[in-house]
Amino acid sequence: MVAELEKTALTEKSQIRETIYYYLTRDLKRLPLKLVDKSITIRNLREHELQEYVDLVNVSLTHCPDPFISMTLDFAKKWPLEQTLVAEVDGRLVGFLMFESLGNRGIPVQLGVLPKYRSRGVGTTLLLSLLNNFRERGIKEIRMKVFKNNTPALNLYKKLKFKVYGVTLEE
Ligand SMILES: CC(C)(COP(=O)(O)OP(=O)(O)OC[C@H]1O[C@@H](n2cnc3c(N)ncnc32)[C@H](O)[C@@H]1OP(=O)(O)O)[C@@H](O)C(=O)NCCC(=O)NCCS
Repeated sequence: MVAELEKTALTEKSQIRETIYYYLTRDLKRLPLKLVDKSITIRNLREHELQEYVDLVNVSLTHCPDPFISMTLDFAKKWPLEQTLVAEVDGRLVGFLMFESLGNRGIPVQLGVLPKYRSRGVGTTLLLSLLNNFRERGIKEIRMKVFKNNTPALNLYKKLKFKVYGVTLEE
């Protein structure tokens, strides 16, 4: 019984340890736009692509260290198309970036790239395109959250000069 309780406590503890998120910020003054790959088309999601988009999100986020909640078509229909960027390569959707803005702040909400298309600049191109778009709209600062154990994402944000300004534990 005690062993069982210890096991449960340890599991709970490790779950808590695993749900640490960093809050990141960045101002929009100097963007390294030379890292944008012009051969990748970045544009808003279109309504007729919603099912393809849901599959893209679910495949991209299944191959991700973060706790995963799958995207449904119902949810996708509710999220504004003008707040969703997609990356297109060879006529195929290979990456996405959901975002929102609140006053002076831009908030990238979720980013993902199909496993086969990773490490070739798609994530960088999506994020920089959004940051540039935010800057053109007069937004001054970015705020976002990243799972502590998500090394690829953390490296991407570090490369783009995001700074950690806080930490949170989520159950
Ligand atoms: C995070 C993610 C979006 C990166 O997309 P990507 O298109 O592969 O990224 P890029 O090719 O633009 O890489 C940019 C930088 O990210 C970092 N990076 C990317 N993949 C990495 C990996 N597997 N390991 C370590 N660092 C990595 C590197 O610093 C890289 O720069 P470099 O090529 O000069 O080394 C992608 O791995 C993904 O979709 N992951 C699953 C979903 C996810 O974790 N989303 C983020 C939630 S906050």
